Amino acid sequence: MNKRSTGKTGSAADSRLGAVTPLRGVLNRVFPDHWSFLLGEIALYSFVVLAVTGTLLALLFDPSMEDVVYDGSYTPLQGTHMSAAYASALDISFDVRGGLLMRQMHHWAALLFMAAIVIYLLRVFFTGAFRKPRKLKWTIGLLVFWTGLVTGYTGYMMMDDGMSGTGMQILQGILLSIPVAGTWLASSIFGGEFPGDVIIGRMYLLHVLLLPGILAALMLVQIGLRLRQKPIQWPDPRRRKTAVEGERMFPRYAMQRAGLLMFVFAVIALLGGMVQVNPVWLFGPARAADVSALSQPAWYVMFLDGAVRLMPPWELTLPIGDGYAVPPIFWAAVVLPGLLFAVPMAYPFIEARVRRDNREHHLLVRPRDAPTRTALGAMAVTFYLVLTIAGAGDVIALTFNISTNAMTWAGRLGLLLLPPLAYWITHRICLGLQQHDRQVLAHGVETGIIRRLPHGGFTEIHQPLATPDHNGHTDLRYAGRAVPKKMNQLGALAPAVRGFLKPIEGPADLGPGVEADEPHRQHRDAA
Ligand code: HEM
Repeated sequence: MNKRSTGKTGSAADSRLGAVTPLRGVLNRVFPDHWSFLLGEIALYSFVVLAVTGTLLALLFDPSMEDVVYDGSYTPLQGTHMSAAYASALDISFDVRGGLLMRQMHHWAALLFMAAIVIYLLRVFFTGAFRKPRKLKWTIGLLVFWTGLVTGYTGYMMMDDGMSGTGMQILQGILLSIPVAGTWLASSIFGGEFPGDVIIGRMYLLHVLLLPGILAALMLVQIGLRLRQKPIQWPDPRRRKTAVEGERMFPRYAMQRAGLLMFVFAVIALLGGMVQVNPVWLFGPARAADVSALSQPAWYVMFLDGAVRLMPPWELTLPIGDGYAVPPIFWAAVVLPGLLFAVPMAYPFIEARVRRDNREHHLLVRPRDAPTRTALGAMAVTFYLVLTIAGAGDVIALTFNISTNAMTWAGRLGLLLLPPLAYWITHRICLGLQQHDRQVLAHGVETGIIRRLPHGGFTEIHQPLATPDHNGHTDLRYAGRAVPKKMNQLGALAPAVRGFLKPIEGPADLGPGVEADEPHRQHRDAA
């Protein structure tokens, strides 16, 4: 078939199926090339690994609470009564070839997935990428975080080992603390008395069906939005406002992403094969009466554990009947997570209202250029970190031989004092960095060369970034993007290294009309 007839067949197929034109649009789409845009993708690829390893595990895992006597190869537990779920987890670990690798890969993929989501959310927040028209993407990102958190929790709980048993008791405590509906909720979820014999099956259904389905749907919407909306990118004074600079979807971008998927898979496989995680055989089976010391949840749940540990024993008694008590855990484990869910969701709307900014934004903002937002973010991160460290309070106390009470009090004080301090320090740092950028734009880069003046004083010679006026000042506009700070960065106002590890484009590609052998002029033009 010659070229013409292929083209004809293509057009005929397109006129009937209408598939070629949208596909061409997608393949020709340009994606900005910056490492920070990879974070969402790392989360997506970890989710692919979770789905693959999870499906394989689901073929072997038995989500039943039926009492069995263990007779597998792990001798310390032979003859022990346990649930079929825990026994199957032990079998997967010791008696199925590659089973432990699958379990550990699944677990590491979950940890990486949550880490990538958190860092992605931080990137979106600190660069202002949540502003109109991307508010929905921010909301979906947060929903992925919370759904991932519950999925990870149900994954842990299903194993029915000693650690799951502790987590299950905490869940029961939290449910019971809810006023009015608590008792009913707990007995409905556990199917009667705690722990009952249905909870593992329910967790299993949630874990392998409902929650992954919700996660997949959320991520599909996110990808759809990414394909529909204009990509957001860093400001660059050399670029036309409407232009998008980066790689076409096909072939280079697609190939790079396939490489990244392989890399994520390889890292998870390496971790799963080399680094032990959740050794359930050491914890023994879950028993309703036992709570193991030093139980730690996964890192992404630890802030909630920390909140429960730091909450003072303040019981609120409402004047209803003989007095209706609301236990302290209710505030730390129900009200606080509710606030932590709602406030970040509402933030883009609050900020838009306070700034009276209803415009569309397609450029990112450097954190220093939005000091209040950055400082609020730093305050939130500090709050989260104090709670997370408090979640490991007993382990830290034991390791460093400190009293657990001292740890709790340090956490309480830290929770009140450190976030405002982080706000203040971050705000000052942002203003300082801005000031420094403006100084370099006005006076040039410090050369490190000191000149002695005729009257004996010393001064440092600055290399101006553009032709200075008679006062030695340059009148360059502050453009909200990187300014060279060292002599060897001159001529590199546009980031010199565009790839992650090596330059993708040579200096000749730096921009239209810019000669590769005139670094200073490039720089001036760019500025
Ligand atoms: C996408 C579909 C998924 C399927 C089919 C699935 C399936 C499973 C199965 C069958 C187990 C029991 C493993 C065992 O017997 O050792 C498990 C455990 C677990 N899952 Fe998933 N899962 C999925 C997604 C996720 C996600 C999205 C997360 C977290 C964000 C997650 C986190 C966990 C955790 C932490 C465990 C305990 C793992 C261990 O220590 O062995 N899973 N999952």
